[in-house]
Amino acid sequence: MIGSADDPCLFQGFAAFTNLLTGYRLTEALLTADEAGLFAAVGEGRSGSELCARVGWDPAYGERFLRCLCTLGLLRTQGGRYLLSDVAATYLDPASPRYQGRTLAFERRLRCSWQQLGPTLAGGRRVVGTEDKDPDTLRRAFAAYLGAMDEAARIRAVELWDALSVAEPAGTLLDLGAGSGAFAAAFLDRHPDWRAILCDLPEVVADAGLHPLPPQLTGRVRWCGCNLLTEAPSPFDDIADRSCDLVLLSNIVHCQAKEESARLLAKAASKLAEDGLLLIHDFFTETGWRGGLYDLHMMINTYNGRTYSRSELIAMAGDCGLEARRDLRMPSGSGLLVFGNG
Ligand SMILES: C[S@@+](CC[C@H](N)C(=O)[O-])C[C@H]1O[C@@H](n2cnc3c(N)ncnc32)[C@H](O)[C@@H]1O
Repeated sequence: MIGSADDPCLFQGFAAFTNLLTGYRLTEALLTADEAGLFAAVGEGRSGSELCARVGWDPAYGERFLRCLCTLGLLRTQGGRYLLSDVAATYLDPASPRYQGRTLAFERRLRCSWQQLGPTLAGGRRVVGTEDKDPDTLRRAFAAYLGAMDEAARIRAVELWDALSVAEPAGTLLDLGAGSGAFAAAFLDRHPDWRAILCDLPEVVADAGLHPLPPQLTGRVRWCGCNLLTEAPSPFDDIADRSCDLVLLSNIVHCQAKEESARLLAKAASKLAEDGLLLIHDFFTETGWRGGLYDLHMMINTYNGRTYSRSELIAMAGDCGLEARRDLRMPSGSGLLVFGNG
C-alpha cells in the first residue's frame, strides 16, 4: 500500500517506486547466500577469501557479495573477518534452534507459484498446484508446508503467549487447525496444569512425523483428526460443548471462503466455556502491505482462501454470540483478536 503508515520510509516518494521495483533483489541475495551454504560456513568468523573458497565463489566477486550482505544486515565485519549478524545467527544459521531452513525451502516453491499471478488473475481461479498428485508427492508437499508453518509458529507462539497472559491455573486449550502443534506446545510449556486438544485433518493427525511434540507433553495432549468444514460425524463431536477454556484459531480462518470460515467459527464457539476466551490469530486485511500480499498469497496458492478484516471477523463472531474483548498486534506483523461470550 503506497504511503502505508506502517512503513513510511519504504513506501513514500520516488523511493516507493524503486523499492517496489527492486524488492526481488533482496530475496535473490538472501536465497543465493543460503543456497550456497554461506550462513553455515561463517562459523566463528572467517576472512572473505576463506569463505569464498568454502562456498565455491570467485574470490573477487564473492567478496563484493559479502560486503553487500553486510549492508543488508545479514553479516558484519570484525578484525578483518565476517561474522553473522544477530538476525542471521538466529534464523539462518542451521545450528540455531530458531533456524528457518524449511521456511526458506518453502519460499523457493512459492517464488515459482507467484510467477502465476497474472494467469490466476485472468482465470479468476487457482492455476497453481491443481494437477492430481500421487499420495507420496502429496505427503511430501504437505510435509514441506507444515514444516515451514512449524518454524514460523515456534516464533509467533512466543509473541502470542507473551501478549496474552492467562491467569487461570488449569484448563483446556482447544487448537483448531493445530498443524505441528507448536502454539499448543508453547502454551503448555508455560502452563503446566493445562491440557490441550489439537484438531487437524485426519491425514495430518495420522502422520506423527508431521507433529513431533516434545515427549514430556504427550500425556497432556489429545489429537483429534477431523475435517472441520464438513458436517459428517467426526471425533470433533466427542469434545463436549462449552468445555474448552481457550479456543485457538491460528492461521486457519484465511484458508477458505467466508461462508466456510463462518461455519468454522460457529463450531469453535460451540466448544467455548461460558467464561472462556476464543482467539483468532491471523494476517488481517488491514495489516498494511503485508495483509495485501497475504491475500494474494491465498489467491494464488489456495482454492478459495483470503484474508479477512477485523470488522468482518468481529461481525462473524458476533453471529456466534461472541463479543470482541481485545485487538492486539504481534511484533512480527500478525494480529490477534480476543473474544468472549457476549
Ligand atoms: C496455515 S496452517 C496453520 C497451522 C498453525 N495453526 C499455525 O498457526 O501455524 C493451517 C492448518 O489448518 C489445517 N486445516 C486446514 N483446513 C482444515 C480443515 N478443514 N479441518 C481441519 N484442519 C484444517 C491444516 O492442515 C493446517 O495444519
